[in-house]
Amino acid sequence: MLIYGHRGYSAKYPENTLLSFQKAIEYGADGIELDVHLTKDGRIVVCHDETIDRTFNGKGLISEMTFEELRKYDSHGQKIPTLEEVFDLIGPVFKINVELKTDVIDSDELVEKTVKLIKTKNPDRVLISSFNHKSISYARKLDQNLKLGFLFDETHIDKISDIKKKSVDLGIFSYNLPIYAKGLKELDDLIGFAKDKGIKIIFWTVNDKEEMEYAIEKEAYMVITNEVEYIQNILKERLGS
Ligand code: G3P
Ligand code: CA
Repeated sequence: MLIYGHRGYSAKYPENTLLSFQKAIEYGADGIELDVHLTKDGRIVVCHDETIDRTFNGKGLISEMTFEELRKYDSHGQKIPTLEEVFDLIGPVFKINVELKTDVIDSDELVEKTVKLIKTKNPDRVLISSFNHKSISYARKLDQNLKLGFLFDETHIDKISDIKKKSVDLGIFSYNLPIYAKGLKELDDLIGFAKDKGIKIIFWTVNDKEEMEYAIEKEAYMVITNEVEYIQNILKERLGS
């Protein structure tokens, strides 16, 4: 099972920063997960929220700020990174899951620019995901070979049968499922469907033993965690027993 650092090693380092990604690599994560947005002047930057208010020492919507403005602020000493800088840091083979944050501010331009960049960066080791399944369909239209994942939360529950059909049509690589939904009938149903169709199961955000045990029981392909070392140790113990 693969272990990806959620926003890097975000339990211990400032989320979605080069430091956090570097630490996830140093502590032996198999990959990293991060979130992307477009700046006002069309640069792809890495941040979870639409605004910088929570994580940086400034305020404002990323889509209304230029890259130069955004770089004036920091998150515990770290500047907002571009997606390109993250690729430079991780090198040509380290695995990465790029989440398109198009669920609040929809943007075809973000999908186009991200796909274009990823295609130059050894795309086989990249997974693109989004809660906005329209963005994933668009990414597929732009490239037939990219690995694409549907992210799920409560907003998708009443669209499950359409999503299942779309998954097969688009050749979806993974279902990226919330671990907080464990035990829900709808989740078991989706996992069963995915297994049937060869779609991989990914759980986020797996941060404790009980969640990890569940992910192992469901034969997840990957877990995304804030707690890189702790979750690795649980997996090691299990494999050793
Ligand atoms: O990709 C998994 C997870 O990161 C999705 O939720 O809100 O942390 O981006 P969020
Ligand atoms: Ca994310």
